[in-house]
Amino acid sequence: MFDILKSTYEGKKVFLTGHTGFKGSWMLVILKVLGARTKGYSLVPEGNPNLYDLIEGNGLCESIIHDILDVKFLEKELFDFQPDFIFHFAAQSLVRKSYNTPLETFEVNMMGTSNLLNAARELTRKCSIVVVTTDKVYENLEKDYAYTESDKLGGFDPYSSSKACAEIATGSFRQSFFHPDNYEDHNICLATARSGNVIGGGDWAEDRIIPDIVRSLDAGEKLNLRNPASTRPWQHVLEPLYGYLLLGAKMEEEPQRFADAFNFGPSEGDELSVEDLVKIALDKWGSGEYEVSSDVDAPHEAGLLKLDISKAGDQLGWKPKMSSREAIDKTVEWYTTYKDDPIGITEQQIRAYFGTE
Ligand SMILES: NC(=O)c1ccc[n+]([C@@H]2O[C@H](COP(=O)([O-])OP(=O)(O)OC[C@H]3O[C@@H](n4cnc5c(N)ncnc54)[C@H](O)[C@@H]3O)[C@@H](O)[C@H]2O)c1
Repeated sequence: MFDILKSTYEGKKVFLTGHTGFKGSWMLVILKVLGARTKGYSLVPEGNPNLYDLIEGNGLCESIIHDILDVKFLEKELFDFQPDFIFHFAAQSLVRKSYNTPLETFEVNMMGTSNLLNAARELTRKCSIVVVTTDKVYENLEKDYAYTESDKLGGFDPYSSSKACAEIATGSFRQSFFHPDNYEDHNICLATARSGNVIGGGDWAEDRIIPDIVRSLDAGEKLNLRNPASTRPWQHVLEPLYGYLLLGAKMEEEPQRFADAFNFGPSEGDELSVEDLVKIALDKWGSGEYEVSSDVDAPHEAGLLKLDISKAGDQLGWKPKMSSREAIDKTVEWYTTYKDDPIGITEQQIRAYFGTE
């Protein structure tokens, strides 16, 4: 798998939005290992510590710190770079925060995506674009059912809904300006990638379970669990990143075939409840306790969410390499060792995942 990615991305130009975020920082290191030339476009990295600074992200890319809502600026930066690939990660990415900042969430997630795709209309070279959304774009029926790419889009909270809007906007740009049948005219291949909750080292975002564990351990306090029974398709961050890169490689090979939506999630039956994940993680850490809190005023969050990943398996040859337990192990390994050499452990986990030294 490493060879396919290396032969696709080595020496190529990659425009990565959201490069200062959690997934974006991991992606920067992978792209460095693959030998790509990356231009990142995002806001300043949030929080201290943050993964982008720990991996010295400024040394891994040409970093543009600017708002994706500034259309003219974005257009110029994209046009000047003329990328071979675009991976669009920039987003307001948190469900709970979206209840406090619904307008900002819709602006960044829906209009930010539209701004980028509109800017891509001016590109003069072949380009494959992967717009990253989420498993939460589906109308969640709270049933024991794994959503497939043709299921109805929806979204209860502003985050999920804004990402479903990004999917619809992307579909519209594909139909209107980047239709696969007219590929030779526009040279743009446009796909979306819907992945589940990711875990991995270097995430310190609010209201995500692994960062919550890290903060409670650092503070020597009991972890407060809001939704212990919620089941999520957890997976290690490297799994969807591999999926996005493989999708990009396939799009470059057969642009008319892969301009579509793809789910990336854990293997069937590998979903875990929040409480199970916490138990396994604390056991691996060897310390820490949790308690269940019943916050009756808590905003709605999906209780049950599963993804059908057979399309990515059948068409891309992608499948998860780690079980959710292995993903938790790798994550704990990162947090318990990163202080000595954050770049080293990040790159070492990437090389181990891709089977390259
Ligand atoms: N982390 C997960 O569990 C998860 C799960 C499914 C999907 N996703 C999606 O994957 C993508 C990356 O997620 P993440 O966890 O790295 O998120 P993150 O919050 O860590 O990073 C978000 C990135 O977007 C950038 N950004 C936000 N607003 C911007 C603006 N106005 N202009 C320019 N840049 C802006 C930030 O600077 C940052 O680089 C997002 O689209 C997210 O919705 C994440």
